[in-house]
Amino acid sequence: MAGAIRQAGSLALAQLHHAGMRSPRELIGGAPLYPSEDAETGARALSLDEISQLAEDFINAAVRARRAGFDGVELHGAHGYILAQFLSSEYNHRDDRYGGSLENRARLLLDIVRAVRERCGKHFIVGVRLSPERFGQKLAEMQQVARWLVETGVIDFLDLSLWDYAKMPEEEAFAQRSLLSYFTELPRGNVKLGVAGKIYTPADVARCLDAGADFVLLGRAAILQHDFPHRAKADPDFTPVQAPVSAAYLHSEGVSQTFVDYLDRFPGFVAK
Ligand SMILES: Cc1cc2nc3c(=O)[nH]c(=O)nc-3n(C[C@H](O)[C@H](O)[C@H](O)COP(=O)(O)O)c2cc1C
Repeated sequence: MAGAIRQAGSLALAQLHHAGMRSPRELIGGAPLYPSEDAETGARALSLDEISQLAEDFINAAVRARRAGFDGVELHGAHGYILAQFLSSEYNHRDDRYGGSLENRARLLLDIVRAVRERCGKHFIVGVRLSPERFGQKLAEMQQVARWLVETGVIDFLDLSLWDYAKMPEEEAFAQRSLLSYFTELPRGNVKLGVAGKIYTPADVARCLDAGADFVLLGRAAILQHDFPHRAKADPDFTPVQAPVSAAYLHSEGVSQTFVDYLDRFPGFVAK
């Protein structure tokens, strides 16, 4: 739960700043580090040594997770966090091997993924979360990154964070069919494709699977009912609890008051 709260905290802070900003100055007490300098936030560009250290920090975090008994990790390449910033031509203006072409912008993520596999062994589950649009990302580029991730031959799953599994692309050139379809159509070998966003009922789950996803990721539905997957499996017609719900109800689901306070920022979630 502490991890969930920390994650939640970072999301809340990000909402207070612009989409690419994940470590505001007032939180970290100094200039944030970005792929490149950013006047709006006062961020400075990471040096090449710092990029190596950043990669090592990600890899070591995965190694620690394995030692601590976890079955796998998910690398966060979405939502404007640092790896997503590297992927984005909007935030990454470097002119070295980590910037410019998409190949260069994707280098850090791909290197980390390969190293995590190497250092954590073949039985450790390794996945990557991607935002196919917003947060400075372009759909065609994220499709290509997904292809490259599959081609590394080392990831077990891809997690598409769509915020709405049925969402249509914002880019006009792609707007005729669902965002999800641009990823289900890619060859993916043994890599499992997951999707997250407004999956609230067993019918939503079925629609995602019918659309070609291999699995789903639940956010709010799992906060509302910690045992949603078991209930849905036992009874595909079960009617899930819908937000808004009271703080008392959330406490009964094991949600702390700190997290309830955080959830309060999501419109229509915690009943007034
Ligand atoms: C309270 C809350 C905190 C979240 N924090 C994070 C986060 O730190 N990192 C992340 O990748 N996604 C985070 N998300 C997004 C979820 O992982 C998920 O992608 C999103 O909520 C859409 O799924 P849902 O509609 O099932 O909630 C958060 C969502 C909620 C509701």
